[in-house]
Amino acid sequence: MSSSTIAVEQGRETGSKPQPGPILLLGAPGVGKGTQAKELVKLWGIPQISTGDLLRANVARGTALGRAAKELMGRGELVPDSLVNEMVAARLKEPDAVNGYILDGFPRTLGQAHWLDGRLASEGQVLPVIAVSIQVDYNQLLRRITGRRNCPVCASIYNLFMNPPRRDGFCDVESAALVQRADDTEQVFKERMRAYAGLTAPVVDHYRALGRFAEVDGDRPIAAIAAGIVTAVERLRK
Ligand code: AP5
Ligand code: MG
Repeated sequence: MSSSTIAVEQGRETGSKPQPGPILLLGAPGVGKGTQAKELVKLWGIPQISTGDLLRANVARGTALGRAAKELMGRGELVPDSLVNEMVAARLKEPDAVNGYILDGFPRTLGQAHWLDGRLASEGQVLPVIAVSIQVDYNQLLRRITGRRNCPVCASIYNLFMNPPRRDGFCDVESAALVQRADDTEQVFKERMRAYAGLTAPVVDHYRALGRFAEVDGDRPIAAIAAGIVTAVERLRK
């Protein structure tokens, strides 16, 4: 029996809250995947695994992966599947991922989706993935991208227009000066949208066809979207 099977079985025996299992957050750049993942971490106690954040950490550390990814990310193009899959495989082996995880921004190509499906099947994962696609229109996405600021210490996400910090330019939690991502320009956003439409939209269709799939309106207050995701996941887990 795999460790995740044991965790679910233990949940049933003790009557404790069942684990949500693996959740995929899909959606265009700026749709709110990272923001929602952080809400769901608080609610479910399973980790957020953001491939964008992991890649940026590699770029910052100057690793071989970071050196290979930096220019592609700066242009708004995707990093090759082989590199991203290997990075995700290593992260999924960490002990905090045993009862489930929220994959934020992965899979982003059909190749990545097939790799993940195969990996979960080979592990005997008892809880199949649930994919949640967040929807927001183009003009709103552009405001979210150009207005986004991040805390370099705790990774809190703000928006100058829609979700500003209490003190202009500084994190509410850490008081650190907020930073802007290098790819958060209108020009790079357009490239990221092109990559999304060409390579990632088919991933949404793939999970929609498998049935364990929900679409949520992302143009609402953050807490209302999180509540919508939880309701959808609970319904699909029944
Ligand atoms: P990644 O970091 O994943 O970027 P992305 O997909 O473009 O998504 P974002 O992080 O920009 O947006 P988000 O949906 O997380 O929105 P957020 O919550 O921050 O990837 C970056 C790059 O890495 C890629 O271009 C690629 O090069 C590479 N990469 C990553 N994964 C890869 C993969 N699997 N394969 C290959 N390459 C990969 O919110 C955005 C803003 O909106 C914030 O300001 C926030 O405060 C605001 N906001 C959020 N929700 C709301 C709300 N409800 N109301 C008002 N404002 C809101
Ligand atoms: Mg993000």
